[in-house]
Amino acid sequence: MNIFTQDTINSRKHRTAAGLTPLLKNDDLVMVFAGEPIQKPGGHDQTYNFLPHPDYFWLTGSRRPQGVSVFTKADGWIDFVNPISRDELVWEGGGTVIPGRPLSDLDGWIAQQSFGRIFCLGQVGAAHRQTPANEDEFQHIQEGFNQVRRIKDAAEVKLIRDLAGMANHGYERVKKFIRPGVTERQIQLEYEMAVLSAGSEKMPYDSIVGTGTNSAILHAIPTARVVKDGDLVLIDAGADVQDYCVDITRVFAANGTMNTQQKTIYDLVLKAQQESIALCRPGVEWHDVHKASARVFAEGLKGLNIIKGDTQAALDAGAVSVFFPHGVGHMVGLRVRDVGGKFTKDPRKAFGVRVRVDLPMQPGFLMTVEPGLYFIKAMIEDTDTRTKFADFINWSEVEKWREFGGIRLEDDIHITPQGPENLTSVVSK
Ligand code: GLY
Ligand code: MN
Repeated sequence: MNIFTQDTINSRKHRTAAGLTPLLKNDDLVMVFAGEPIQKPGGHDQTYNFLPHPDYFWLTGSRRPQGVSVFTKADGWIDFVNPISRDELVWEGGGTVIPGRPLSDLDGWIAQQSFGRIFCLGQVGAAHRQTPANEDEFQHIQEGFNQVRRIKDAAEVKLIRDLAGMANHGYERVKKFIRPGVTERQIQLEYEMAVLSAGSEKMPYDSIVGTGTNSAILHAIPTARVVKDGDLVLIDAGADVQDYCVDITRVFAANGTMNTQQKTIYDLVLKAQQESIALCRPGVEWHDVHKASARVFAEGLKGLNIIKGDTQAALDAGAVSVFFPHGVGHMVGLRVRDVGGKFTKDPRKAFGVRVRVDLPMQPGFLMTVEPGLYFIKAMIEDTDTRTKFADFINWSEVEKWREFGGIRLEDDIHITPQGPENLTSVVSK
């Protein structure tokens, strides 16, 4: 089933054509590939569930493998599609094929013309693997495509809002379920059952549930650990329809009430998130959105006597990255990492952290904002880290926080000309 109307697909093709045309020569060909199922290692006749390459799915609305959408300045977009095979009917019951020419025509169609440069986007099928003339030229065309795809259309924004509603079923469910005695795995199951019952097709990424000190593991895999009285419970989980997703993190007290330490850090992370979200406006550099959270953390940790000396110097040295070791967020929407920053061989860092997106915000961007403060054993026990930041971190004070774990809060923010729109605010904090 195509979740987008033909008008939406036509509009995407139209906008992409307008974006690519100035970048292309008259005899250039752009091909966007759906990709092919990948065989499981040792799996003989088994493949992983097929996920169409997001560039192709976004452009065509088709979820079938092997399709190719081609673009030339003279002819615009032409779809080549693979008809449903008898095997597919027998084993999977069919599928939906978008209108287009049969895939078997593609090679003949290419041979009839004399193309100069050929740019292959998406997941290139084995039969058409050809190296573009030049990597820089390829990146230029891919970036032209990305620029269009980064701007979410109304249908995408509506879908994200619907997905937030589905995820909220999960968060409401776990709020009632969490108590000392349950396991991380049980919390995951309660969440996923509620979200799948509410309409999510699958989980967009492995659900993260970290309790106690496990809450400081950034991508904690739910375990059989039993939640104890006084624990923090961090859940980072979403909802997904046709690879569109929300990415949300909330933190709860196992016994329903945070102690003073927990409340102090929770309020600091909330303040950091609010300040970063307030900056999510057209024209603002994503690095500055990250830096806003890092500054709140620097001041807060200074107040707790964990950071010492001049806070700006501590930030510049990267000391806050010991407690906030990841970028403040990333693009989200079609998959949990949507078209991100421009390809660069040497990404810039902000206050010691490799920030995942290096772009000024534009209306239509959809970004996670997910600051977190953690006391991670691997960081605070590392001898080099302790030496490097001896002037800025009171390591004896950090000892008092060893068993704390971590707190992260995450929402998905739509950048609009009027300012930030929080599409996941339905999930209460
Ligand atoms: N929610 C997982 C991540 O953003 O990495
Ligand atoms: Mn995230």
